[in-house]
Amino acid sequence: MKDITNRNLLNNPVKIVQVDSLDSKTLLKECLTLVKSVKHITFIVDNAPIEAKNTLLKEIKNIANVTILDEVQPNPRTIDIKNMASKIKATSVIVGIGGGSVMDSAKALAMLMTNGGELEDYLSNNPKRKIEKESLPLVLIPTTAGTGSEMTKVGVYTSLSGRKYTLGSPLMHAKKAILNTEYILNMPPALIASTGADALDHALETIWNKNANDETRKLAIEVSISIIENLLKMYNGAVNKNQNVEYCRNMLLASAVAGATFSTTGTAAGHALSFVLSEDFHVPHGSACAFTLLDIFKMSKDLQSVKAPLVEISKAFFNDDDEDILISKLYEKLNSMFKEMKLPTTFKELGVKISKDEIDVHFNRAFDDPKMWNQIPKATKENIYPFLVEKC
Ligand SMILES: NC(=O)c1ccc[n+]([C@@H]2O[C@H](COP(=O)([O-])OP(=O)(O)OC[C@H]3O[C@@H](n4cnc5c(N)ncnc54)[C@H](O)[C@@H]3O)[C@@H](O)[C@H]2O)c1
Repeated sequence: MKDITNRNLLNNPVKIVQVDSLDSKTLLKECLTLVKSVKHITFIVDNAPIEAKNTLLKEIKNIANVTILDEVQPNPRTIDIKNMASKIKATSVIVGIGGGSVMDSAKALAMLMTNGGELEDYLSNNPKRKIEKESLPLVLIPTTAGTGSEMTKVGVYTSLSGRKYTLGSPLMHAKKAILNTEYILNMPPALIASTGADALDHALETIWNKNANDETRKLAIEVSISIIENLLKMYNGAVNKNQNVEYCRNMLLASAVAGATFSTTGTAAGHALSFVLSEDFHVPHGSACAFTLLDIFKMSKDLQSVKAPLVEISKAFFNDDDEDILISKLYEKLNSMFKEMKLPTTFKELGVKISKDEIDVHFNRAFDDPKMWNQIPKATKENIYPFLVEKC
């Protein structure tokens, strides 16, 4: 991707800092640009085995007053966030180092520190409380190249009822996103595949999206090309235990920019369906998104406003004058990439036990999800259920 240092990413307020490694002094300096004095830093992490992160956390204790909270689970629960909130006394900055689950947890905690109350009160379609104040200064440092949460104004939380809710407000944006290549150098292949597919899904869902405009389409085309160029190479680097810094750096940036893009348009049908898979069957977020991506590609590709950007993406890889051939070549490229990365395509491969008769029982509610309403062409049971049934 082109250098982003001086680019306006759809007026996204998050400042991106790109580094290949990060030491404790540099991080402290970055925090000091946000507040006059850093009296205390609260770190939100999980137990992902990332040596460089553990070293940084060890070292920063020598130069700053810190608390480290590590109770985050995948698809973060409001109950864990409540527990962590009770342990934060007074803090100047919150720093989240992790995948989407950690970054969303840090986002919720930074919001709760200034707005008060419990996260549960802010969720649902008719919440008891609304976000009114800007979050505490927040720095997000991703350890997966996928969610783009470091750039978005939303967090996704599993409520006490077991449902996943998206909570969003421009007041929730992080101040800084530090993209540190070192943290994703040793990601295992399956995690690269699922989180990378999530990033690609973000970019493509901003194309088959009723809120798309010329600017979001332009960025989505650029990001999609970068992900298609780098994801499989990064995956193979992990499989062959010979990872390449450049592919990781490119994926981290593409994922962040995809985050800035869907933060403007919202996501669409694939994400609405993925929430059911995560809520009812505990499917990891990235795999849940990848599961229907190619089906939704097929369903959407003929609409002119979708076709034109897909043709542009395809032209980066293929030389042909026929638009339909370019689209079908792009589809085949993605299909073979997903196969090579062993992304599940049937419910059985996904580890989900479901019969054809149960599709409506589970997926019915996805049609009440506002994300589903962003889809173009319009998502209906008539165009979604046939491919879900085929996966049984
Ligand atoms: N806020 C947003 O804009 C946004 C966007 C998309 C997804 N999400 C949310 O993000 C969550 C998914 O995040 P995710 O896909 O990054 O996964 P994750 O954060 O749930 O992490 C998945 C697993 O990978 C481990 N892990 C993380 N980094 C690692 C590394 N470098 N090496 C080895 N293991 C590592 C974690 O410890 C965890 O066990 C979901 O809750 C999803 O709803 C949020």
